[in-house]
Amino acid sequence: MCGIIGYVGGKQAAPILLDGLRRLEYRGYDSAGVAVLDRAELGVRKKTGKIDEGIARELAADPVQGTMGIAHTRWATHGAPSDENSHPHLDASGRIAVVHNGVIENYEQMRERLLAAGHTFQSSTDTEVLAHLIGEHYEKYQDEPDRAGALTRAVSGALREVIGTYGLAVVSTEAPGVMVGARRGSPLIVGIGHDENFLTSDANAIVAHTREVVFLNDYDVVTMTAERFDVVNLGTDTATVQISKLEFDAEDSQRGEFEHFMLKEIHEQPRTVENALRGRIDQEGATARFGGLNMTPAELRGVQRIIIAASGTSWHAALIGEYLIEGLAHVPVEVEFAHEFCYRMTPVRRDTLVLVISQSGETADTLMALREAQRRGHKALAIVNVVGSTIAREADGGIYMHAGPEIGVASTKAFTATLVALTLLAIHLGRMRMLSAGRALEVLRALEALPAQIESLLGQSDAIRELALKYASADDFFFLGRGYSYPTALEGALKLKEISYIHAEGYSAAEMKHGPIALIEETTPCVFVIPQDSMYDKTMANLEMIRARKGPVIALATEGDDLIGKVADDVIFLPRSQEELYPILASVPAQLFAYHLAVARGCDVDKPRNLAKSVTVL
Ligand code: AGP
Repeated sequence: MCGIIGYVGGKQAAPILLDGLRRLEYRGYDSAGVAVLDRAELGVRKKTGKIDEGIARELAADPVQGTMGIAHTRWATHGAPSDENSHPHLDASGRIAVVHNGVIENYEQMRERLLAAGHTFQSSTDTEVLAHLIGEHYEKYQDEPDRAGALTRAVSGALREVIGTYGLAVVSTEAPGVMVGARRGSPLIVGIGHDENFLTSDANAIVAHTREVVFLNDYDVVTMTAERFDVVNLGTDTATVQISKLEFDAEDSQRGEFEHFMLKEIHEQPRTVENALRGRIDQEGATARFGGLNMTPAELRGVQRIIIAASGTSWHAALIGEYLIEGLAHVPVEVEFAHEFCYRMTPVRRDTLVLVISQSGETADTLMALREAQRRGHKALAIVNVVGSTIAREADGGIYMHAGPEIGVASTKAFTATLVALTLLAIHLGRMRMLSAGRALEVLRALEALPAQIESLLGQSDAIRELALKYASADDFFFLGRGYSYPTALEGALKLKEISYIHAEGYSAAEMKHGPIALIEETTPCVFVIPQDSMYDKTMANLEMIRARKGPVIALATEGDDLIGKVADDVIFLPRSQEELYPILASVPAQLFAYHLAVARGCDVDKPRNLAKSVTVL
């Protein structure tokens, strides 16, 4: 996934674009570039590497002037990270500059045709082919007096040849003061300013300038100047333009006094769990309530099966959701990787509800799963964090996580907010079925105790850092658990591997004896998620098996457990709670453990290598 920002107005564009790139960097950071128009001159600067080491230095050494421009930070899909593969890309004439987020699937055929027509390319990217295609279409309209219309028609004509996904912005020396944007499958947002307008793939990049935005829809093409913007739709010719107000402000997407966004977001969890609960607990009815499911109680009662589709950390949350909904509502749940759900022949009965989970609301695999479910005629709900994101807008209903902007690539607060939403949903469904008021109230009260309990866990950060330093030289970790603690272990392992680059494997504690225990040595630390829940004794037996083979054990255990200290090498104690909520409580120390270990190893915690915050390619 990449980040795009465009500006047209009365101020110098370069500083605005650079600031926007910094706010977009978590979306991809292999390289970055800008194209700024100064009357009829197009100033292009681009550089591999992260913003501050690459493009920022390039612009300081060789500034560009102009009050309109586009910029891009890249997560490489086609073509390795390099200066020439960095965006913006120019057409053959050098008059048109393009920045693009997405994948042009038929770019090779187009490239062959253009090469045969005499074009030459500087890069190996699909985007440069798109730029040349736009330039080729522009030649048909270049003599028209309406330069804005000519550029729009050139972009539209080129996109009609495209198979694939795009969120793009285009400027041309032939149309000073005019910017054209278009989207299909990758997000693109218009930011409405006073005598200035913005284009971006993520509202974080412009929230400091405006909170009035338009979330463009697939096939929309926008023609924008400092004073106005017009939207047409390639599919229907009439576009629906709805002005929305961003719920968060610039401060929310700043790091504040924290060294990393990830640490800030870990520490925000008492507040974000509160936000996820706010207004959703019905004490009197001993249930949960939602404003946006868009399903009647009768429809919800008619649901006989639920499929949850997601990716990565959201898939781990989905696995915990399976335990929650089956345990509290007795509705059969099947969890699928979003990409698998799309492409395998999953027999799905008519009374099946599909639920997708996505923090960004833009993950291509998960968006495909949503559309596949709807294509088959199923109600499809979504649990999403980013308001106005594609998945949020295309789902038939859903639940917002209310975790605020999550900038760190490793998901933390969105994960625990998702678990809160899933617990509330399970109670909501359960109370329409067999779940007693008493049992529901036990879990609801435990949910309300979470913020203070998470606060106390955050107070252990220094001790957890010491523990991380103790194991900083390990090359392999296991994270083990059973029941609710099994997916919790999977998530703990993902956190560690994706930010510290240490090989960490989440596994069922029970399954270890069927092979993987062969890997246990004195240098293989095993993190056991072992709260005093219904699986405690069984998990303890698995822990003893590891100890018998001299594997070091780090236990995430319940306060008051006076046995665990005798069998584990190190213990992090969790506050006592309901079984359903230990995944939330255990994840906080696991997040801190991964964070401190990654920092100790000198890793870039917020922008880990090879990753991006949301993967908008299939
Ligand atoms: C989580 O730490 C990772 N960054 C990644 O697995 C992420 O959860 C996954 O790509 C899904 O993203 P989404 O929730 O935005 O759909």
